Amino acid sequence: MLAALAGLPNTLAAQEAQLGPPDVPYEPSTPEQTLAMLRLAGVTRTDVVYDLGCGDGRIVIAAAKKFGARGVGIDIDPQRIQESVANARKEGVARLVQFRNEDLFQSDIHEATVVTLFLWPWVNLQLRPKLLRDLKPGARVVSHYHDMGDWKPDKVIEVGGHKLYLWTIPAAAPAK
Ligand SMILES: C[S@@+](CC[C@H](N)C(=O)[O-])C[C@H]1O[C@@H](n2cnc3c(N)ncnc32)[C@H](O)[C@@H]1O
Repeated sequence: MLAALAGLPNTLAAQEAQLGPPDVPYEPSTPEQTLAMLRLAGVTRTDVVYDLGCGDGRIVIAAAKKFGARGVGIDIDPQRIQESVANARKEGVARLVQFRNEDLFQSDIHEATVVTLFLWPWVNLQLRPKLLRDLKPGARVVSHYHDMGDWKPDKVIEVGGHKLYLWTIPAAAPAK
């Protein structure tokens, strides 16, 4: 047990080195923005919510706690994943959520019916083809603050001075 604990920082450091540094620094959505993103996507208990770059896990934890949805949080920073796991336990939703220490560009997101993002403009644009390719028609994508270039949102609202954007994956996805 002690040996395993002693080895943990090295394991995390090795994993971090393999995954590379975050493309976007950590900045949490506020509780109001978190709830508004989930409402904007119309999340229900039948949804599977993926937060790509999940930080401390608050979006998928809120989706589970307030709407009964299953959730998966993905973050490249192992410290954020540890915080997310601890927070999910504290909030009593550990059986509904899962957290993965992965690069969001490499993650398997096929089962998501809702994807939430709070990233940077170039990351959204680079992610766009993957969203359109991997998600099923009707899946919803919500982005905090940044748009998706010329992919027009279905709806835009403002919460706490920040824009929140909603898109729906179309039946016949555009090529890019
Ligand atoms: C602005 S924070 C958003 C946190 C959370 N989604 C929220 O809204 O409260 C961005 C998060 O993305 C993570 N991140 C940055 N680049 C990533 C990548 N390539 N793969 C996975 N996570 C990444 C960061 O570690 C950070 O926790």
